[in-house]
Amino acid sequence: MMEGRDCFPMLWRLALALMAIAVASAWNVTYDGRSLIIDGQHKILFSGSIHYPRSTPEMWPSLIAKARQGGIDVIQTYVFWNQHEPQQGQYDFSGNKDLVRFVKEVQAQGLYACLRIGPYIESEWTYGGLPYWLHDIPGIVYRSDNEPFKFQMQKFTTMIVNMMKAEKLYASQGGPIILSQIENEYKTVEAAFHEEGPPYVRWAAQMAVGLQTGVPWVMCKQDDAPDPVVSFLLSV
Ligand SMILES: *[C@@H]1O[C@H](CO)[C@@H](O)[C@H](O)[C@H]1NC(C)=O
Repeated sequence: MMEGRDCFPMLWRLALALMAIAVASAWNVTYDGRSLIIDGQHKILFSGSIHYPRSTPEMWPSLIAKARQGGIDVIQTYVFWNQHEPQQGQYDFSGNKDLVRFVKEVQAQGLYACLRIGPYIESEWTYGGLPYWLHDIPGIVYRSDNEPFKFQMQKFTTMIVNMMKAEKLYASQGGPIILSQIENEYKTVEAAFHEEGPPYVRWAAQMAVGLQTGVPWVMCKQDDAPDPVVSFLLSV
C-alpha cells in the first residue's frame, strides 16, 4: 500500500506541471476580413462590458459568472485613466481599481478579455476618463496631433500594457487578453480636429502596435484604421 500512497503525490505533481504548461501556452490571435482567428480557427465571439471600478472586487466573480452563463465569450472593459492617475504621477490600482485582479478573474472563469485602453473613453464616465490635471499642461490639446497630449497618452498606455505583460495576461503569453483598443470612436469627432486628426490616428496606431502585445489592436468605429489595427465595430 506504500506504493499506492506514494503514487498519488507524484501523479498530482505531474497534473500540476501539465496544468502549468497548459496555462502558460500562448494563443495565436490574428484576424482577417471575416473575424478574429484564434489558433487557426475563425471565431464568432460575443462580448459584454463589465467596468471594474463600478463594482467591488468581491462582486467580480459573480458578475463574470453571470456573463458566462448568459453566453458571453469575452469580457470587455475600458481602462479608467482618471481613476488610476488621479494626480500626475501618482498611481492607484487598489480596491475596485485593481485591473490585474479583474483580468485574472476573467481568466479564472475561462473567458477572454478585451482591454479598451483608450485612454479617452465614453460610457458616461466623467471627462472621458481623462484626468483633470491634464488640463493644466501648457499647450495641451486632447486627442489630437499634439506633443504634450501624445506624451501623456503614450506614457499611460505603455504603463498599462507593461502591467499586463508583467502578469502574462496577453493571449500571446497564455493570458486571456485577445484584443486591446487604442482611442475610441474617434472617427465620429475626427473632422473637428481638422488637419490634426489623421496624423493623430496614424500616430496612435503606430504607438500601440509598437508596444508589441502579440495580439491585435482595434480602433473602435475607425473604418480607416491604419494596418495592422482592426477597424471593426465592437459592441458596447
Ligand atoms: C498564427 O495564425 C495565423 C493565421 O491563422 C498564421 O498565418 C500564422 O502562421 C500563425 N502564427 C504562428 C506563430 O503560429
